[in-house]
Order: sequence, then C-alpha cells, then structure tokens
Amino acid sequence: MLFITMHESRAGDTAFVAGRWPLDPDLPTVVFIHGSGGSSVLWHAQVEALAGDMNTVALDLPGHGASGGQGTDSVTAYAASVESFILDLEVPRPVPCGLSLGGAVALQLLLEGKANYKAGILVNTGARLRVMPLIFEAIERDYLSYVAGSRSMSISPKTDPRRIEPLLESMAECPPEVTLGDFRACDTFDVMERLGEISVPVLVLAASDDRLTPVKYGEYLAEHIPNTRLVHIEDAGHLSPMERPEEVTRAIRDFVLSL
Ligand code: COA
Repeated sequence: MLFITMHESRAGDTAFVAGRWPLDPDLPTVVFIHGSGGSSVLWHAQVEALAGDMNTVALDLPGHGASGGQGTDSVTAYAASVESFILDLEVPRPVPCGLSLGGAVALQLLLEGKANYKAGILVNTGARLRVMPLIFEAIERDYLSYVAGSRSMSISPKTDPRRIEPLLESMAECPPEVTLGDFRACDTFDVMERLGEISVPVLVLAASDDRLTPVKYGEYLAEHIPNTRLVHIEDAGHLSPMERPEEVTRAIRDFVLSL
C-alpha cells in the first residue's frame, strides 16, 4: 500500500500543497484552485486521495492562505498568476480544476492560457457568476459574522457543518478586502458567449443543494462546452469537495484516468 503525506511548499509568493513530491513528469497534474476568500484547505481530501494515480497540487491564490502577494478583483489577473505558477514549476500536463471563483479561473485558463491545457475540471461554478448584493453588504458590515453565517449558504442541510470548519478558519483569516475583491472578480466574470471555443475535454461537477452556483449553471456549461462530462453530486452544497469528498474524488479520478 502506498502511503502519501502531503508536501507543503512555495514557489515564489505562491504557497501550495502537493500529494506527491517531486511531481512525476509522466503523469497528469490536477491543479486545484479554491473559491472566494478560501485556501487550498478546500481540496486537501482530493490532493491526498488522488496522489496514488496522478500529480495533485492545490495552491493558495495571491493574498490568500499562506501565499504572499495581493488579492485582486479580476479573474484574468488570478488566472495569470496561476499560469505563472504552472509555467515556473514546469507542472507536467496541467489540468486546472477550480471551484466557484477557482472555476472561473480554470475557464479563463482554458480560453486564454498558454500552457497547453489538455483538459479542465469545473466544480460548482458558472460561465457567469453574478453575486447577490447581500454578500457584499454582509462582508462590509461585519466580516467574521459573514464567515460564520456563510455556513448556511455554503453547504447542504444534510452535511455535518464540522466538515467545513478548516475552510471557515482560513476564510476568517483572509483579509476582508481580499474576499471582497474575489466576489467583485466573480461579479464581472462572463464568458457565456465563449464556451464553444473550448475544445479540450471538460468535467463539470454540479451539486444538488448548491445555492450559490445552482445546478442550472453546471448544466449550462455542459450544454455549451463541446466536449463535457457532467456529474451530479447528490446531497452536497457549494463546498462539495469537503462535504462529499469520496464522490468528488471518484469523479475526478475517473475523468483524469480516461484522458
Ligand atoms: N449559467 C446559466 N445561467 C445563468 C448563469 C450561469 N452561470 N448566470 C446567470 N444565469 C441566468 C440566470 O439564472 C437568469 O435566468 P432567468 O432570467 O431565466 O432567471 C439570467 O441568467 C440572469 O441572471 P443574472 O445574470 O445572475 O442576473 P440577475 O439580475 O437575474 O440575478 C443575482 C443576480 C445575484 C440575484 C443572481 O445572479 C444570483 O442569485 N446568483 C447566485 C447567488 C450568488 O450570489 N452566488 C455567488 C456566486 S460566486
């Protein structure tokens, strides 16, 4: 049996965790990208569980988690920083995999990236990500209350809230202006008209109880990106990688091994 310990490291300003280190040049690498105000903690279960079959790397976006640098209010700018990380590290056969804002970053990389992406994975995200004004107001009024209150919006009523505590802890440590910038980046993101340009295989995951990026958004991606596989994760909300880790891991493994 192969025992894997997550490897924590940094490349320049970017902090990341990897499931195996060094990366195997002959295997694809899933590059995990978190959502607004988040960190790589979102993906720890997948980084570990998939490491026997592929390279796995989850990074903290600039200004988040253990990364240095500044947050931004633009998906394009976040995509540029993720692409620099991928190119600097010479990540083998990168497959961007993002949730929510991270999914927007992954879409941007598939549309404009220079690293010759052969596939992508879009989890609980959309081609447009308008944000409820209530979210901006709540962050500006009292950030820690917003983080505490986001439990009810972010997970399925069937999920034990303790599952997402590590992510809420890292969100609480994220500067409120960085989280605000993240949501502004989502609010102006719109590639609805460009999905037909994506020619590589794409896995879309949609969670049955997701209230922030409803199943409709995932179905839209699957209908408009030419080569997609849509997988529904039942009884999970917006944070399905932590709520239903085995199901999400299985979907990613099946997809990447099929490439
Ligand atoms: N994929 C498919 N359809 C989408 C879409 C996507 N990514 N984004 C929006 N649409 C649809 C909407 O469902 C809506 O369809 P309808 O007219 O049939 O109801 C239409 O496009 C327009 O929606 P939108 O652009 O979002 O504007 P709006 O003024 O109707 O709604 C919000 C604005 C903020 C209320 C709405 O976007 C929302 O509820 N968002 C989800 C909650 C949220 O804040 N999520 C955070 C994401 S990071």
